[in-house]
Amino acid sequence: MDTKQILQYARSWVLEAGEEIRTNINEPLQIDTKSTPDDLVTHMDQQTEKFFADKIRNQFPDHRIFSEEGMGDDISDLEGVVWIVDPIDGTMNFVHQQRNFAISIGVYEDGTGEIGLIYDVMNDVLYSAVKGEGAYKNGDRLPLLSTTEPLKRSIFSLNTTWLLEENRLVEASGIRELVKSLRSTRSYGSAALEFAFLAEGVLDGYVTMSLMPWDIAAGKVLVEEVGGVVTTGDNSPLSMMDRTSVCAARRNIHEETVENYINLKK
Ligand code: IPD
Ligand code: CA
Ligand code: CA
Ligand code: CA
Repeated sequence: MDTKQILQYARSWVLEAGEEIRTNINEPLQIDTKSTPDDLVTHMDQQTEKFFADKIRNQFPDHRIFSEEGMGDDISDLEGVVWIVDPIDGTMNFVHQQRNFAISIGVYEDGTGEIGLIYDVMNDVLYSAVKGEGAYKNGDRLPLLSTTEPLKRSIFSLNTTWLLEENRLVEASGIRELVKSLRSTRSYGSAALEFAFLAEGVLDGYVTMSLMPWDIAAGKVLVEEVGGVVTTGDNSPLSMMDRTSVCAARRNIHEETVENYINLKK
């Protein structure tokens, strides 16, 4: 694939979609729920996804789209070029806070992440990465992550599913021990931003029970370009097709985290 050309289009569409969201940020939202009363979707999620689907199909008719809100293709493999799109990651933040949400686009070729773009819309900050060419924040290259700082001086992002006792995996995991071993934890409510913050070095790890491929696709490219490691919660490679647990962290603490603490094998 012509990575440079695809990146140029992807970048300009992300900025255009972000501008549209910012312009309408105070307009009334049509809010629906999906699987649960707290699983929100708005007309802006759908409109933004349609914007990308139309642009991609028009410019790259042989590419496929794997996306959250139903405007993409019916995907059962990652052959060829696939755009993995989350039009608004952090919809709950979008609805309740009008900030702390992102557009996330990963472009994969035959299952390999080639391009990752995460746009923090309200702050107008674009994180971008091309496989093998490093990661950038608004055009400034992000340095490689530390490979020496220990867990005890690390901040991890976690969400509150780890507190739910009915979750069998929580009881089996060493998550409480992990929290005690860390310097502290944070919870931002947008998986894409959590990956971007890890890539930027303001977080050292992100562990979560359950994400979809569009939550991860761009973030994985970014984090790997600064030397971080992204796996499932049982230290396996991510399939990028199914719902999965995730452990993402700086290289020197990833294995320790996943093997000694997360331990989702049990
Ligand atoms: C959600 C956010 C959230 C994560 C959820 C995702 P959405 O994405 O990334 O941080 O905990 O699992 O579903 O639905 O706002 O695009
Ligand atoms: Ca959603
Ligand atoms: Ca998402
Ligand atoms: Ca979403």
